[in-house]
Amino acid sequence: MRRILVIHGPNLDLLGKREPAIYGKVTLKEINDNLKKIAKKHKVMLTIKQSNSEGGIVDLITGGRNRFNALLINPAAYTHTSVAIRDAIAATGIVTIEVHLSNIYAREEFRHKSLITPVASGTILGFGAKSYYLGLEALLELV
Ligand code: DQA
Repeated sequence: MRRILVIHGPNLDLLGKREPAIYGKVTLKEINDNLKKIAKKHKVMLTIKQSNSEGGIVDLITGGRNRFNALLINPAAYTHTSVAIRDAIAATGIVTIEVHLSNIYAREEFRHKSLITPVASGTILGFGAKSYYLGLEALLELV
């Protein structure tokens, strides 16, 4: 059975309450429940983690290198700053899809650069919670 690691980066545990005009009212639990439904339909195993710490996310990626076939990640604010998360994805060679709820290119200039995009197979953004569901479906086409 294929195994997929899902990582939610910093502050995504606050979804539902956090800047709803940007991120919507959907909670992380609702997103995770819908991801689990999609996984069940496709008969894949999901492991879902949320971390506010950069090192924690690096450990999840490198620690999972022999256990998972693919990675679905919303690196949140670390998208724009983290060489370490980018390097962890490159070092493990794990097939990765990057997702964002918002369209980062329509927002502040500091969000326009993603350090993760060059090491991801693809990026899905701007569809709210649907970015995750589309990202998981896309990942299942790849692995
Ligand atoms: C985000 C976009 C990032 O710029 C921001 O720091 C987040 C969420 C998104 O899903 O739209 O925390 O990754």
